[in-house]
Amino acid sequence: MIVCVCKRVSDRDIARNVHAGMGFDDIQFELGVATQCGRCEGCARDVVAQCQRMHTIAHIKPAPTETQGLAWNTPSPLSPRWASA
Ligand code: FES
Repeated sequence: MIVCVCKRVSDRDIARNVHAGMGFDDIQFELGVATQCGRCEGCARDVVAQCQRMHTIAHIKPAPTETQGLAWNTPSPLSPRWASA
């Protein structure tokens, strides 16, 4: 979807830059979004905010389970042996 008609900037262009770690001001400078008539600024900011939320959630990893994320010889913190020690 085109967000900025004046500069032909799409939501994908914005998302790509958010995932590269850029904020709205950086994206505005890089792509020129909301620098001509300004009508797209609200929508562009919404797209940036939405992408930042999704980007943050994507980096949250679940805690390792009993069978995941532990070396073969590491006692599991979920093991009853740790409860008595
Ligand atoms: S639509 Fe983005 S500056 Fe005009």
